Order: sequence, then structure tokens, then C-alpha cells
Amino acid sequence: MHVRAGSPVSTTTPLVDRFGRQVNYVRISVTDRCDFRCVYCMSERMHFLPRARVLTLEELAELGRAFVELGIRKIRITGGEPLVRSNVSWLFQELGRLRAHGLAELVLTTNGSQLERWAVTLKEAGVARLNISLDSLKPERFRRITRIGELEKVLRGIQVAQAAGFERLKLNAVILKHRNHDEVIDLARFALDQGLDISFIEEMPLGVLSDHDRAESYYSSDAIRADLEKVFSLTPTTESTGGPSRYYRVSGSGSRIGFISPHSHHFCGDCNRVRVSAEGRLLLCLGQEHSVDLRHVLRAHPSDRERLKQAIIAAMAIKPHGHEFQLGGQPVILRHMSHTGG
Ligand code: GTP
Ligand code: 5AD
Ligand code: SF4
Repeated sequence: MHVRAGSPVSTTTPLVDRFGRQVNYVRISVTDRCDFRCVYCMSERMHFLPRARVLTLEELAELGRAFVELGIRKIRITGGEPLVRSNVSWLFQELGRLRAHGLAELVLTTNGSQLERWAVTLKEAGVARLNISLDSLKPERFRRITRIGELEKVLRGIQVAQAAGFERLKLNAVILKHRNHDEVIDLARFALDQGLDISFIEEMPLGVLSDHDRAESYYSSDAIRADLEKVFSLTPTTESTGGPSRYYRVSGSGSRIGFISPHSHHFCGDCNRVRVSAEGRLLLCLGQEHSVDLRHVLRAHPSDRERLKQAIIAAMAIKPHGHEFQLGGQPVILRHMSHTGG
């Protein structure tokens, strides 16, 4: 069944897991490639997927349609870096049309490096919000964390996105002890000055990394909050953007400061999301390997949307309760974050 203009918007979803959690949010990775090599995300030398294993833009659009017919309300496009994929603007335009058929929010997570060029196109396609990674405001340090990224480009991208009319831009800062933990106040002040929200993130152990010891670099959300409270007055809120961030309001400012704390404050009990890797693996949890090969369904039965939808519904039975991230030792999950986009 194709969703037609004027068809009723579904308010219930068949996507409910064994624990009664409703899934209404999908994160779709459109590429595993990236123009940065962040130390917490990638090894210095990475093997990227050959093109034939990555879903085509048409397959990605078809997936989006199937998910929205199943009651998905929010699609977040992730990478790698989504904006390095050629012709990705076509996909945003296709997915943007789904807003007339029940999709409440089309959003994007990006490293910001290409925003200068793409922000206006994204806005026109109907992208509602952008989350932009920014781990340091010091050019040298930014370069060391991203290995090859250029801070100035990202800062210009943020300005262009604001000028294009994006509101509630959110910065994402992964905080690592001895790399950028001493910058949390500056990052927060930058967000406040620019009228942006910011989430501080505890690093998650995905993939084996070179030149980076995760246990040593752990810096908890509580430590970050204590640092911030020396300068800002933070009030907890129940506000949510549908993701795992716990937000605080800052007195005298419209900005929100959030904390994403997979280690210190488990949020799996409220999980409302699944993700699709660039290869078309439907991953039921970021921190587990339970998955279903949707690329196989898409390629074995092209244009059979019902079959695709049935595969997604059936996958709910294997959504695990949560992750089991540990700080020490080897990571349990060998896939890098760049395969799933967080
Ligand atoms: P909004 O709430 O829509 O603004 O987005 P978000 O903060 O959920 O998404 P974003 O892509 O900005 O991701 C921020 C961080 O949250 C990344 O480090 C993600 O890996 C992490 N994250 C998002 N969803 C999950 C999840 O289900 N489990 C875990 N452990 N981390 C998640
Ligand atoms: N742990 C936590 N967050 C991560 N990100 C990338 N790798 C990790 C990790 N290992 C963040 C990026 C981006 C978002 C998609 O996920 O900084 O903001
Ligand atoms: Fe690229 Fe994002 Fe990974 Fe950094 S965290 S290497 S920007 S995918």
C-alpha cells in the first residue's frame, strides 16, 4: 500500500517491542564515509564499504516510506557524514514529502563541514533541525580530535545554517578527559552566546580504536555538570527532543544544556528508536548486534513494500532491553560508530 496525499495519519504504531516500548523514531545512516576521523569514532585507517553494499538513494527513500507507513514520526539522517554522499539532497527532498503523510520531523546529524554549501537546500527540503558535532573551539585541538577537520569551516557552517532559518540548532560535544574536558564552560558559553542548545556526551565503546584509551578518557556527565555549575545556574527540566539527552535550562538564557550519559544514567528503559546502517541492517539497539538484513528484503523483493514492512514489524521481537557498555577492556561491539551514526 502506498501512502497517498490525504490518507489518514496513523496515531498508533504496530512497532511495539516485547517490553511494551513503542518505536516511533528511526535513525538512518546514509554512508559510513566521513571527511573527519574523530578519535572516538574511527581508527586512523578505516576500510569503507564498497558501493554495492551500501543502500542506493532509491532504496533509502523506499525504507523511509515503509517506516512512515508503520507509524514512524521522526527520521534522523546520520552517517558517517551524511552530506558527503553524492546527490543526498534528492533523498532529503523525497523524505521531506513524507511530512504530508505522517512524518512529524525530518532531522539531520552532521559534523557541519559541508553545511555552508547545503544548509539552504536542507531547509527547503523540510529538514526541521540539525545536530552539529563540535568538540572544541580551539583550531589545533579540533584538528587533533577530528584528525583532519577544520574548525573554521564548521563555524561558518553553523552561521549559514542560522541564516538559512534553522532554529534550535544543537551542538554535540563528546567530552574526553585530557582532550577537551577543560573546555566545557567555553563550549557552553559559545552555545549560549549563539542561541544554540548543546549536549555533552559520554563516549560509547563502539569499535576498536587506535591511539585512544577509552577507560582513561572517561569523563562523566556528573563531572561536566559540576564544572558547569561553577559558572551557570542549571535547572533540570522534563523537556525532550525524543532522544536520550536530559536537558537543563540555564537561567538568563533560552538555550538548553543536555547530557547524554550512556554510562552514568542508563536511558534504555525509554528507548523509542531503531537504526538502519548504511548497508541496510536494521539494528535494534546501538549497543547490541541484534539486527535484520533489510537490504536483502529490498533487493530480493523490489517494490514489495508490504514484505519490507512485515520484516520491520517482525524485528520488534528481537529488540533487546538495552546495551551493556563497559569502560575497560575490548569493546563488545566491533562495528564503529560511523557505521550506525550514533
Ligand atoms: P535529538 O534528541 O533528536 O536532538 O537527537 P539525539 O541527541 O538523540 O541525536 P544525535 O544524533 O545528536 O546523537 C547524540 C548522541 O546520542 C550520539 O552520541 C548518539 O550516539 C547518542 N544516542 C542517540 N540515540 C542513542 C541510543 O539509543 N542509545 C545510545 N546509547 N546512544 C544514543
Ligand atoms: N560515543 C559517543 N558519541 C559518539 N559520536 C561518535 N562516536 C561516538 C562515541 N563513540 C557522536 C558524534 C556525533 C554523534 C552522531 O555521535 O560526535 O555528534
Ligand atoms: Fe565523522 Fe562523526 Fe565519526 Fe567524527 S564522529 S569521524 S564526524 S562520523
